[in-house]
Amino acid sequence: MTRTTKARTLLNCMSCALLPLALAITGVAQAQDNGEVEVLNWWTSGSEAKALGALKDDLAEKGIGWKNMPVAGGAGTNAMAVLRSRITSGNPPTAAQVLGYDARDWAERDALATLDDVATSEQWNDVFPAAIQDFAKHDGHWIAAPFEIHSTNWVWANKSMMDELGIEQPTSWDEFIASLKKAKEAGYTGLAYGGQPWQDTTVFENVVLATGGADFYRQALIDLDPQALDSDTMVETFDNLRELLKYKDDNSPGRDWNLATAMVINGKALYQIMGDWAKGEFLNANLEPGKDFMCFRTPGTQDAVTFNSDLMIMFETDDGQQQAMQKTMAQIIGSPDFQIAFSQIKGSVPARTGLSADKLDACAQRGYEQVKAAADNDTLMGSLAHGYAAPASVKNAVFDIISSFVNSDMPSDVAAEQLAAAVQSATS
Ligand code: BGC
Repeated sequence: MTRTTKARTLLNCMSCALLPLALAITGVAQAQDNGEVEVLNWWTSGSEAKALGALKDDLAEKGIGWKNMPVAGGAGTNAMAVLRSRITSGNPPTAAQVLGYDARDWAERDALATLDDVATSEQWNDVFPAAIQDFAKHDGHWIAAPFEIHSTNWVWANKSMMDELGIEQPTSWDEFIASLKKAKEAGYTGLAYGGQPWQDTTVFENVVLATGGADFYRQALIDLDPQALDSDTMVETFDNLRELLKYKDDNSPGRDWNLATAMVINGKALYQIMGDWAKGEFLNANLEPGKDFMCFRTPGTQDAVTFNSDLMIMFETDDGQQQAMQKTMAQIIGSPDFQIAFSQIKGSVPARTGLSADKLDACAQRGYEQVKAAADNDTLMGSLAHGYAAPASVKNAVFDIISSFVNSDMPSDVAAEQLAAAVQSATS
């Protein structure tokens, strides 16, 4: 019997008429007995929703129900607006997915429960890297459970198109541009591009790193040094970005990131520059790295990793049952098995150090080592577009400038000047 026939038989079955009622009663009973968590998140693509399902399933095993509160929109821009209004109206969810500076911000406003009990019993101080602890702890207290580490300096490539066009994996910016040119000349779109502010800046931060190197990235986007922001190197960065944009298609404005990923998956485009959540979509389509698609660090950025990490923050509550469920959820998220299982679907690498990478795909195995090496060499740096380099006010100011540059003929020197001015006014 196929699944559809089975479902139909079940629906037609007279003696099953009461089944929905029975299921509803069981559902209510379960919610009353063991409680339910409401979790705000922006994981709405196929792979993202599937990865979140791993948490839902683990909670269900402990008898905890799940109320999903998804807010579509990459990088959480829309989700953060909804979260703010839930909190200001005095109705926070049980927990929410956030990125670095947003976690800090809610901690500073005393909105968060501390997770110190769980962190102590699970020895989080010893297993999460310092770069993550910087954001998951506030004033010495754990205020978030890290799901994983993502990084933004990746290129995702269509392997058969590379083979067809005789393209070898590029290792320098010039080779990268030359390969995009080849694709364009053969009638393909070179760069699968989603024209949304957070995606524009995700690509921009890759170009900053490829053009100026790790020290320059840090000075400009983390230290927010005005001289670096309005420097010759920044002008060169904008020149390189302008060159890169020649290889996107005309329908890019407004396109969601996963639709851009689908262009690479479906052989419409050669590359996408995107964080490794894009790999989740390839894996979800049953594609294999090295065979069906290629992953490599954006040429010119091989020695550094620009990272972000999704954090689960829990909101302070007087309800003892909610508190207990928050602890259970934090414990699950930080556990070794979950860290592996989640990253296998999500495309990320575990945030925990020291796990065996055997069960991860080939890109993630390399990625996990690269994160460790970058942490050791001090080239593990927060992503600006994904909330780990500067507070939201600065991030949003940068989004505006970069997107105006992408969507106009703004000259590079004007862009660099405006960037420095926008950052200055966001920080003063
Ligand atoms: C998050 C990822 C998410 C991506 C696209 C990033 O900021 O860290 O988990 O998949 O945005 O929405």
